Amino acid sequence: MRSFKEIPVLHTIPVLVRAALNVPLEGGIVRNDHRLRRALPTLKYLSEQGARVIVASHIGEAGTETLKPVVDALSKLINGVSFCEANTGELARKAVRGLSPGHILVLENLRRNPGEAANDLAFAHELAQLADVFVQDSFDTCHRAHASIMRVPRILPSYAGWELLEEVRELTKALTPLRPSLAIIGGAKFSTKEPVVKKLLEAYDKVFVGGALANDFIAAKGYPVGRSLVSHAAGDEIKTLLTHPHLVLPIDGRFVTSDGSSRVGSIDSATPDEAVLDHGPGTAALLVDLVKKSKAVLWNGPLGEYEKGYVETTDTVAKAIVGSSSYSVIGGGDTVAELERINLLDRFSFISIGGGAMLDFLAKGTLPGIAALQ
Ligand code: 3PG
Repeated sequence: MRSFKEIPVLHTIPVLVRAALNVPLEGGIVRNDHRLRRALPTLKYLSEQGARVIVASHIGEAGTETLKPVVDALSKLINGVSFCEANTGELARKAVRGLSPGHILVLENLRRNPGEAANDLAFAHELAQLADVFVQDSFDTCHRAHASIMRVPRILPSYAGWELLEEVRELTKALTPLRPSLAIIGGAKFSTKEPVVKKLLEAYDKVFVGGALANDFIAAKGYPVGRSLVSHAAGDEIKTLLTHPHLVLPIDGRFVTSDGSSRVGSIDSATPDEAVLDHGPGTAALLVDLVKKSKAVLWNGPLGEYEKGYVETTDTVAKAIVGSSSYSVIGGGDTVAELERINLLDRFSFISIGGGAMLDFLAKGTLPGIAALQ
């Protein structure tokens, strides 16, 4: 994978950058600009070298959002940014022709064109037509089979941007962690996380499976799970993992009934009307102790029902990690948002901007969008 710093000539050259501008919006305003700040090193370098910088990104899943408010937020971080209301076609071509060296043009949300998510070759050619060189800097989407990820790098001479290079360097390092090492995997859905859990059980001394993901393991043990979120798709595969010597599961939980009353109890004690929405103090203490003993901690996925405010274990573990001297790597949209809310984000050693992309990279050591660059 060639670095964007290896592009032979940049002055006046139109460069298409696939950036990760998929930031959370609230009432049309950017709620968190972490990803924008991570996009800056590549954009600044290209702009300072006099390239004509064309930025392509998606925002939101549905393809209905606009990147306009994101461009307003980006303009506060870097000079010379303008917005084009199209992502391809004559409007986009005209905007690119009018772009001065060093200036940055952000195209409208790629997913507004169905060709992006359909991985359409004609759409990829339309995008590629806008530039002479392509820079992939959207690690967060490198697990998607989309036109700007899979097709454009096969049409134009292609390079990796600063953010993508950082992710690959840090997450590759995280696969051979300092020892003793601890991985914490939360969130939900065993079926999507099975490959990464297996990989981490090989690579880490301890792997704590928490959040709703733990429910699948608790159910596989034959314990009652009440109304807790369980994927039920786990089958026998999960049973073989239960005996793995590196696996650590919660020992207690916060059980909440349908009328909202809650109690703490041992993990095998759910009644039919209860759902486990957070871990209990016994599990939190066990995790804090593991963190204190670890030289490397990797974490993706919240440990409780984050959206309903069950953040006690997540916050306790976050404080333990930043208070320790371990090398800490975190990722996942909800985990990062919660750590930002409690002002601890900047105290982690590395923050991956990927959620699913981080997990897939850890499971496979690469991603389709990275392979497309090679
Ligand atoms: C993310 O936020 O995880 C990435 O930007 C990918 O977004 P997507 O899940 O809408 O593809």
